Amino acid sequence: MSIETIRDLFDIPSDKESYGILSQILHETFQPNNPFSSAREPDFALNGSDGAPLTTVLAEVRDKVVPHAIHTRHPGALAHMVPPPLTVSVIADLLIGALNQCAFIWEEAPVAARLEAAVIRWMCERVGFGAGSGGILTSGGTMSNTLAVFLALQTAKRTHPQADRPLYIVATDQAHLSVEKAAALVGLGTESVLRVQTGVDGRLHPGGLCRAIGETRGAPFMFICTAGTTNAGIIEPCDEFLALAREHHAWCHVDAAYGGFVTLTRATAHHARPWRFADSISWDPHKSLHASYGVGTLLLRNESARNVLRYHAAYALRNDAQEDAGEAHFEGSRRLEALKLWMCIRNVGLHGYGLLVDQLLDLTMQLADLIRAQEELELVAEPETAIVCFRYVDHFFKPSSLDVLNNAIQQQLFRTGGPLLSATQLAGRQVLRAVILNPRTTHADLVIAVKQIVAAGRWIGASLEQKECRQLTRTPG
Ligand SMILES: Cc1ncc(COP(=O)(O)O)c(C=O)c1O
Repeated sequence: MSIETIRDLFDIPSDKESYGILSQILHETFQPNNPFSSAREPDFALNGSDGAPLTTVLAEVRDKVVPHAIHTRHPGALAHMVPPPLTVSVIADLLIGALNQCAFIWEEAPVAARLEAAVIRWMCERVGFGAGSGGILTSGGTMSNTLAVFLALQTAKRTHPQADRPLYIVATDQAHLSVEKAAALVGLGTESVLRVQTGVDGRLHPGGLCRAIGETRGAPFMFICTAGTTNAGIIEPCDEFLALAREHHAWCHVDAAYGGFVTLTRATAHHARPWRFADSISWDPHKSLHASYGVGTLLLRNESARNVLRYHAAYALRNDAQEDAGEAHFEGSRRLEALKLWMCIRNVGLHGYGLLVDQLLDLTMQLADLIRAQEELELVAEPETAIVCFRYVDHFFKPSSLDVLNNAIQQQLFRTGGPLLSATQLAGRQVLRAVILNPRTTHADLVIAVKQIVAAGRWIGASLEQKECRQLTRTPG
């Protein structure tokens, strides 16, 4: 390649072929035939490769990447909290790349601060935070939770009456693993997280928090209530966490990374009523506002709490009238994700998001009903949000063999193109998990999915039996 050709690589493509391939890629992405194909993965090695024309690069993406991707737009993609992104979000990603604003200091991205302020205000209003509230955009729930732990710890060091005692965090055994990561990162160590045990359906026992604290020494400086647990989508009772946080002069954080969407419809908004009294809330638009990855938020009841993150760079010339998005933030250079979130909210609107959530909750209940009606399936937890946890049951198998069977069902379905489910554990039992975040999934799709799950269970159960596992595992009597 010559330097002239290199210079052309910065121009808008003018050839029809590139647009043609791009359009094929979009078509296959927006209307996938399968949620996943397990065909052998291609080789992506780059060693010593010469530069290739844009058409070649795009054709390689079409032929090697797209067929091997997980297609969340497919109605059978039910495995994880990864929604199909809104079309406007996909367009926003392209524009964010093209504009390439560095959402750090004002002079690098003058629009960033204003866009961020607008979307953060919208989210604060949804969770009931009032005047003086604020927040920051992050790369996702892990970063938001980590920053919350950091802010809580800084506050505790200054104000906690028992800051000389070992400080610990209280969360349930259903809280996301980012809590341990955060505790390790801020120097407290993972042992500083008190995980309160929940029941077989992943719900907190009444009084469980209080009892667990009573059995420990040290000072709880932070209570983390998960609103939409990763395993079963349970909204934990924020009131209980808040009451204990107040009693112990502790910070109360709501991890609504996934469950933030309950604020958007009357059907579930009651869950979120106490959140307005929390100190901080994580809410990921890339999980529940149908934005593409990676946009999370950390919302703060008192925006001034983030001042401990404020550092000033000598090269960042500014005057006080110029807001900037990045000075009071842990991360440095960031994408203009605020534009994406702003475009999504402008396009869907509050009422539209309410309708979307209602649709997802309705589909979830439909799936739960289909599972209840199926003899071989057992609902493990009553769904509260868009997650259904269930098991394939065959009363001839002992519990450990049922765990093997359920795991095998998930893996076989994954290998053979669906429906894609995830496998997780509740109270030590292996369960299947479906997350319904695609509003274009229909009742008919769910009926087919249940049939495929049952067929896989019967087939795997029979082959276990053939291998004489059944005799080995048959429960007496
Ligand atoms: C409740 C909860 N919090 C936090 C996270 C972490 O979010 P992220 O993967 O965006 O870092 C998750 C991820 O699934 C989650 O379910």
